[in-house]
Amino acid sequence: MMNFDLAVAVAGVVGTYAFLRAWLHFTQDTREPPPVEDSIPFLSPVIAMASKGAKFHQQMKDKYKLPIYTLRLPGSRLYVINDTALIPVLQRQVRTLSISPIMVRVFSHFMGVSQPGLAIMGRDPVQDHGFVHQITIETSKGLAPGPNLDDLNAKAVNILNASLEHAPTKVQMFEWASHEIMMATTNAVYGPRNPFKDPAVRAAYYKLEGGLITLITGFLPSLLAKEALKARRVISEAFLKYYAEGGLEEASVYARNRYQYPSSLGVPLEDVAKMETGGSIGLISNTMPATFWTLYHTFSNPTVLEDCREEVKKAIREKDGESYLDLAYIKSSCPLLVSTMQESFRVHSVGMSARAVVEDHFLDGKYLLKKGSTVLIPSTVQHSSPTAWGQNVDEFNPRRFIKEPKAKHNPVAFRAFGGGATLCPGRHFASTEILAFASIILLRFDIKPVADSWDTDLYKETNAAFRIPKHDIDVELNLRDSRKWHMFFSEPGKPMEISSEDIRSAAEKA
Ligand code: HEM
Repeated sequence: MMNFDLAVAVAGVVGTYAFLRAWLHFTQDTREPPPVEDSIPFLSPVIAMASKGAKFHQQMKDKYKLPIYTLRLPGSRLYVINDTALIPVLQRQVRTLSISPIMVRVFSHFMGVSQPGLAIMGRDPVQDHGFVHQITIETSKGLAPGPNLDDLNAKAVNILNASLEHAPTKVQMFEWASHEIMMATTNAVYGPRNPFKDPAVRAAYYKLEGGLITLITGFLPSLLAKEALKARRVISEAFLKYYAEGGLEEASVYARNRYQYPSSLGVPLEDVAKMETGGSIGLISNTMPATFWTLYHTFSNPTVLEDCREEVKKAIREKDGESYLDLAYIKSSCPLLVSTMQESFRVHSVGMSARAVVEDHFLDGKYLLKKGSTVLIPSTVQHSSPTAWGQNVDEFNPRRFIKEPKAKHNPVAFRAFGGGATLCPGRHFASTEILAFASIILLRFDIKPVADSWDTDLYKETNAAFRIPKHDIDVELNLRDSRKWHMFFSEPGKPMEISSEDIRSAAEKA
């Protein structure tokens, strides 16, 4: 009897397996990118992605060496791009391969926008006049190089500088740098009534960030993302209070536009607050680890440290016994510091750009992408490509981005800020803030690990676009210079060449 039961069970498993294999085979068009990791149809990719985390797509690139491949998941397909040359081809298809359906899902699943709000925010998603496209334009206005951005950056940098007046002598470096950036960024963006001044909102922020992926997938959120849902309520209620108390009157153009545009369309106030709650992830989640890694690589290498200090010293102007740091000079004339920051971004970025396939499409005239699928461009794949970066791609090379006379890498392969229609609009704000923070610390402090080791024991998985250290580092902050410091921009509104889009637009202007 026992043997009979076993035989039935084995036959069931074998039959199901054979059925799933046949299903996979007959539903995969030979013109689609080749399917990989399908030893257990539909399940192998899910198990592999969950167990390997950020390393997964890089391993797939090394294992299969394909320009693009398909991952078949239960009910959906992912097409993953490896070949750098396919990226601009994909990014040109703004309507057929669009971020908009994904953003509508973010509004509903991650931000929790109500049905009446979604009816407005999800309208005509792939059209230029649709909410998704217009909110990006409104968001970008306050962040594009020019007077609004200078004002925002000046505020953030002055807050950082003032806070360093009271810096403790011993800190945990990741936690400390993250807190400084969180407070400077949100105070500059939201003004004196910044909701993030409340420790309960700050604690809720980390819980919401931790639940990001579970909420977006939409699988049993009330069970699996209970804490994140509670955190979302805490932050959005804080934003409602902020609006009611007139917080926006002293806020940045960025914050005002993100309130005014949805409100002008009749989006309910509760949903505007929910959108801003979700937006806070974009605002700070990446700048915090990016700042840590920039400081880490600047201070942990004695040669880089000395050379960066020499560079930034040249940005000091003295007047009436006080020191003024010219941030325009830092951005344009400190190539090693800027390159160390960009290399930190390259090495530690784990984000990916995503596009929904709105209609069947032949990418580059070669690969059939089926409607309803998702295309991914993982930054880890591009950032580890020897073709794009050279044979020393696995090393941290602080000088990699220095133009002598021309950087040797392929700029299209730099994906820390994404690219195309979804290129991060905050890249100039964040880069200037990080450079200013690093410069003022270089001039005013020595950073020394208490245990004489910079070891972070590798990394922890994260929901942001940057990995974070597995262990924080206890460091001493020793004051080198107690003079009074001020920050200024000698040349306003100058853009930096960060993404390949910036490099192209600078070349077109030249
Ligand atoms: C070092 C810091 C930062 C990094 C590495 C970063 C990275 C990214 C990445 C990878 C994306 C997705 C790009 C894509 O899908 O192709 C993105 C999108 C975005 N980022 Fe950033 N970001 C940073 C700072 C900021 C800041 C400070 C702000 C706001 C002030 C901001 C606002 C946004 C917005 C609004 C989007 C969505 C753009 C869209 O889909 O239209 N980011 N960022």
